[in-house]
Amino acid sequence: MNLLQKSFEVLDKNWFGKYTIPANGLYPFQWNWDSGFIALGWLHYKPERALVEMETLFSGQWKNGFLPHILFHDYQKHSTYFPSADYWDSSASPFASDVVRSSGITQPPVHGIILEAMYNRRLDVGRIEKLYDQTVDYHQWLYANKAYKDTGLMAIWHNWESGMDNSVIWDDVFSRIPQKILDRIEFSRKDVNQVENSAETRPKNSDYKGYLYLLNELKDRQFQNVGSDYPFQVLEPVFNTILIQASRSLIRLGKKLNRDVSTLEQQLQMTESHFDHYFWSAGDHLYYPFDVVLQEKIYKKYIGNYFPIYASLPDLDRVKGLLRHIDLDLLQMFPSVTPGEIGFEPKNYWRGPVWINMNWMIWKGLKIYKLNKVADRLKESTLDLVQRNGFYEYFNPFKNETSNAGYGGADFSWTAALVIDFIKDDKE
Ligand code: GLC
Repeated sequence: MNLLQKSFEVLDKNWFGKYTIPANGLYPFQWNWDSGFIALGWLHYKPERALVEMETLFSGQWKNGFLPHILFHDYQKHSTYFPSADYWDSSASPFASDVVRSSGITQPPVHGIILEAMYNRRLDVGRIEKLYDQTVDYHQWLYANKAYKDTGLMAIWHNWESGMDNSVIWDDVFSRIPQKILDRIEFSRKDVNQVENSAETRPKNSDYKGYLYLLNELKDRQFQNVGSDYPFQVLEPVFNTILIQASRSLIRLGKKLNRDVSTLEQQLQMTESHFDHYFWSAGDHLYYPFDVVLQEKIYKKYIGNYFPIYASLPDLDRVKGLLRHIDLDLLQMFPSVTPGEIGFEPKNYWRGPVWINMNWMIWKGLKIYKLNKVADRLKESTLDLVQRNGFYEYFNPFKNETSNAGYGGADFSWTAALVIDFIKDDKE
């Protein structure tokens, strides 16, 4: 069976009737940005499911426009995931959905990008319009609640909101939480029973204490209105690059759907105009996150250093300079954390491994610059990783690691969905 057929099989296997789970056992519910990437795969295979995937995701939208990072559909039936629907207790917010229980944090806002792709492939415009309005409501929630001052840059309040759960960029932020407080947190994890070699490939128990501490702090604040005393407030380039790209999609699409896009345009302008000031370091020639609490950049080498390529934010010369930081002979593009950075681990989740969604977004960006050689190389090496190892969640970033280089969830949905888009993209 070829790679495309196998990708279809993975998606079919993870389809739960109205949405697609990211991976059996490990992630048995609907995840926010996963659904976006997964919908892109469905678009090439069973397009109706792309619409249903997004409609089911937005069925969990809160009354204030917020869109949670996990929707716990049929939560009584699945007990392999922690923290559970009960632990999150979304009812702590007066705005929570009455329809489906959820987490109380969000994830990178990819949805506008997906809606534009659905429109371009001529799916039902009436259904897209409804999703469009829901997505605009979500963006309005973001700008009203998560924008830092008048910068139009979104602050992340929990590492899980970034999608890059245990990246080294959070290490110093977590180290500010007193150990005495963390030691009081009790929990029993389930993820470690769902994957092989979890000691090397999943976050540590000490990391989970920080994650749960923040979760409970946010719950106490009804998942909104974090005050200046809240310890985790970071502006991060990946999240904000995706916001920019999605806003542009919403503006283009809105014009076709006869919507007034002036607010979206003003917001986008605000975000774009502050991006370099907060993230760009001319001295290092890299982008970095900005810690709002300390009012300084987080100087760590990770994938966010290059990621603004996705939204064509750097000019061509700057892009060429960015790419020179990566040793293409030694490394698979693009490690989630750069080897040599403190805390780098080649097998551990977001602390080094390559992720297919990140490669896919950077690939899209490289093609806009017409950097075809490096874009093709990225595409081929990404497909090769999956071909050799299987549809894993993440992969070893060293080229010389040729066996057992796939880790985490097996038959991972966005890996399959984006393999489909990588393969189909140039042909359609
Ligand atoms: C992990 C990833 C996150 C993803 C989720 C479900 O938590 O870090 O980005 O959304 O799994 O696949």
